[in-house]
Amino acid sequence: MSETGVADERPWADPALPKEERAALLLDAMTPEEKVGQLHQVANPDPHRDAAALAAAEFGTCIVASGEHAGNVRDAGTQAAAVNALQRAAVETSRLGVPLLVARDVIHGHRTVFPVPLGQAAGFDAQIVRDCARVAAREATADGIRWTFAPMLDVAQDPRWGRVAESWGEDAWLASHLGSAAVAGFQDGGRLAGPEAMAACAKHYVGYGLAQGGRDYAEVDVGPVTLHNRHLRPFRAAVDAGVATVMSAFHTLDGTPMTAHVPLLRDHLRGELGFTGPVVSDWDAVGELRQHGLATGTRDAAALALRAGVDIDMVSGAYHEHLTGLVRSGTVPAALVDEAAYRVLLLKLRLGLFEDPYTDPGRPAAVHLTADHRALARRAAAGAVVLLRNDGVLPLTEPRRLHVTGALATASAELLGTWTLDGRAEDVVTIADAFRERYAGAVVTVDDGRFPDESLVRAREADVVVACVGEHPVRSGEANSVTSLEPPPGQVEQLTALARVSRRLVVVVLTGRPLALERLADVGEALVLVFHPGVEGGHGVVDVLTGDVPPSGRLPASLPWTTGQVPLHHDQRPTGRPLDPDGTVGRYRDHRDTPQYPFGHGLGYSPVSYEGVLLSAAELGPGETVRASARVTNTGSRPVLETVQLYVRAHLAAISRPVSELVGVRRVPLAPGESAEVVFEVDRRTLSYRDAAGRERCEAGPFTVRIAPHAGGGVTTRLRVTDEAPGPT
Ligand code: NOJ
Repeated sequence: MSETGVADERPWADPALPKEERAALLLDAMTPEEKVGQLHQVANPDPHRDAAALAAAEFGTCIVASGEHAGNVRDAGTQAAAVNALQRAAVETSRLGVPLLVARDVIHGHRTVFPVPLGQAAGFDAQIVRDCARVAAREATADGIRWTFAPMLDVAQDPRWGRVAESWGEDAWLASHLGSAAVAGFQDGGRLAGPEAMAACAKHYVGYGLAQGGRDYAEVDVGPVTLHNRHLRPFRAAVDAGVATVMSAFHTLDGTPMTAHVPLLRDHLRGELGFTGPVVSDWDAVGELRQHGLATGTRDAAALALRAGVDIDMVSGAYHEHLTGLVRSGTVPAALVDEAAYRVLLLKLRLGLFEDPYTDPGRPAAVHLTADHRALARRAAAGAVVLLRNDGVLPLTEPRRLHVTGALATASAELLGTWTLDGRAEDVVTIADAFRERYAGAVVTVDDGRFPDESLVRAREADVVVACVGEHPVRSGEANSVTSLEPPPGQVEQLTALARVSRRLVVVVLTGRPLALERLADVGEALVLVFHPGVEGGHGVVDVLTGDVPPSGRLPASLPWTTGQVPLHHDQRPTGRPLDPDGTVGRYRDHRDTPQYPFGHGLGYSPVSYEGVLLSAAELGPGETVRASARVTNTGSRPVLETVQLYVRAHLAAISRPVSELVGVRRVPLAPGESAEVVFEVDRRTLSYRDAAGRERCEAGPFTVRIAPHAGGGVTTRLRVTDEAPGPT
């Protein structure tokens, strides 16, 4: 090094030094403008148009996106050569040669598109979530993208909200479990410096899933106990899993925009959770402090956001325009800019960008959409299929004549779902194509239902009809809320008419959100729900319908009978006047209080019985662990993959605790007739909650322990916690 003089001129370039020291050395070498540059994120820069800004290091990161609603507007796709050209300009023309951190929303796959996160959640399978994120990172990094704005960790209990598709559903435990797995996948288990790892981003901090009325961006009001136990929980898990970055959300929480929320960003996230990586604002959210009525201009907005702990300003330009001046005038302490810039530099060093800022232009062709990646997408798609009802028609036996119909029968791009910037329609295996391939010896007729009269004629001639209906992804994702959870107009009528003429009808509903399927309760001989399943969606659906793969998907959110019931989630608190246990008498005068299908529901092709629960001890003392077990038996003639769920309920506490809390899941393959003992370990941590002051507690008293196929059933026993220990264990 000393021969070239690099170590002397650029001591931070020495890879032998600890990264923290390198970041500090580099920060020392920077002008105030260069420091602020690290905090300014621009959208879609161009190496020629933005040559002067790149040479001046005016921005340190960029987002490659089609616009502010990028999830719903496809762009031309990323290209390694374009990213390299940009990076070269930053590294070779700027004074200090600091590489850019290039970001993109790689949400559920890159070129290989997996099911939407809600569909992946239906697998209740952390390993497949991790694998999907790993592949997404391998493909995206080949294009030079080293930062994704995923996973989304918002607990989504109102399916009118379009962003429920990007979530892990209604349950905080599931979101924590799967969100952490996604972090591990994107970040390659913490080996961030590897060329195939990307920084993940836990978003949207925090409470965004509570947008009032399901209206995107709307205000949120939530008390501290619910915030801690439900909404902050997945973020705590992600921080524990080593997530590299966090995004603050758009909304106001009890009147304070999250972009300016000192107690939650600075005090809680940094102070209590100990998060040390950069916090990025959401798109233009610093500028939007004006619309929220907290700032008269972008100058005030920049000061508010930086003080609150937002390190990077995504595209508003407020930091770029004002931070240097705000520091000079003493309005904002220089130390705040230094800390924020240090975090960004440290992340770039952790990602190995200084050592290797470029991507090999040959890599995309070698890693995009490989056979292995497709195979994973096919398994993930099959896992996203939830069998809601089956009157015996499924699995299909090879028909002589099959009719496949409905708006989504031949759909390609639509199967990809929301947020698929690099997915391509021509790569998608449609449901119709997958059936033609699987039943090559049969007559398979296909239409998209555009002429329902023609569909009826074909349906009448077929042995079995598979009707694929549901939502277009245009109505899920950002800014796409709905007031009705019914299937789109006309579909129920179409299906009812088909049911009249079909010998056997299988209804497959593809969707980006939980729908209210009351009007399909009796239509056809089977009802199947699939969250937009991705590039291998056709294969995944057909694999399950034919029984090649046992159905194992479970609902990551309750399905209401009707829209008016929402929010409706399994982990509600009891009222002082409990409902009639058979659910027939309730509060609604026009409907039931319970969902049509509960959280966790999903059938297999054989029934499974549950016996138990046995406890290794009836009491749980401090520091102890109790084993809770149930015997599950496949009582049918086909293999199943049973998702056994552990729920608990505290009957006595300082605050009212939910009637049902998911705290564990085991996926158990069972051959016909096979039985297995499923064991969960329960300790104080399993049973604890956070009180209003954020203290972890587990009070003495009785608990119900329930081992169950879904939130509405199962076998139970009582466990007594003997005395309240000072800590969670
Ligand atoms: C706005 C969305 O809320 C966020 O999830 C996304 O990452 C950014 N736009 C960037 O596209």
